Amino acid sequence: MFDTGNIQQIEMYQNVFPFIGVTTNPSILKREGKVDVWEHFRKIQQIIGPEKSLHVQVTTSRFEDIVKEAYKITHQLGKETYIKIPVTMEGLRAIKQLKQENFRITATAIYTMAQGDYAIMANADYIAPYFNRMENINIDAKAVISHLGARINECKKQTKIVAASFKNMGQVMTAFECGAHSATVDPSLLVDSLNMPSIHEAIDRFQKDWESVYGKGVTLL
Ligand code: E4P
Repeated sequence: MFDTGNIQQIEMYQNVFPFIGVTTNPSILKREGKVDVWEHFRKIQQIIGPEKSLHVQVTTSRFEDIVKEAYKITHQLGKETYIKIPVTMEGLRAIKQLKQENFRITATAIYTMAQGDYAIMANADYIAPYFNRMENINIDAKAVISHLGARINECKKQTKIVAASFKNMGQVMTAFECGAHSATVDPSLLVDSLNMPSIHEAIDRFQKDWESVYGKGVTLL
């Protein structure tokens, strides 16, 4: 998934990189300025189409308010929108209640095995373990993701792991190796992964070799 609220990035990269949806949070949205959020989300929905998922995070922390926000989000954007809810005491209560009412839930801000386990048992559709943020505080992100994958299988749950919070592509690959079903990544990291000097050097060499035989400007066209 793309971890961005930037319309241009979504438009530009959705036909380039593997892509199943868009995740946002209040910090990601802050980068877009004080936009009309409903209009902004509808624009994103229009661009990505109904086959891709949109994950919108609640901005409140009390159970009653989280539930109300979930209602507002689905009223504005449709029942297929995933409600991102941080795994706290109040958040879990809201996840449980909203799952009973068939809302789609992405449980987020997961730093520990315990948080992930609670969200799995509450039947969250996605759980988002925060890879880089775990590493920053010396929590073993690999162990957490592996544990959560095993827990989902043991308990025969439908929950999918969407690993999140990445600062480099090595972390993304490691998350997949540990059993993450998907990852949400800032598109600029994906772009960087194709901008390695060795890739460009190889292409330059091919071009030079070709031109040395056939001349500049000649192609297969
Ligand atoms: C996505 O669901 C998360 O909110 C996001 O990946 C967090 O990323 P950060 O740690 O770079 O803020």
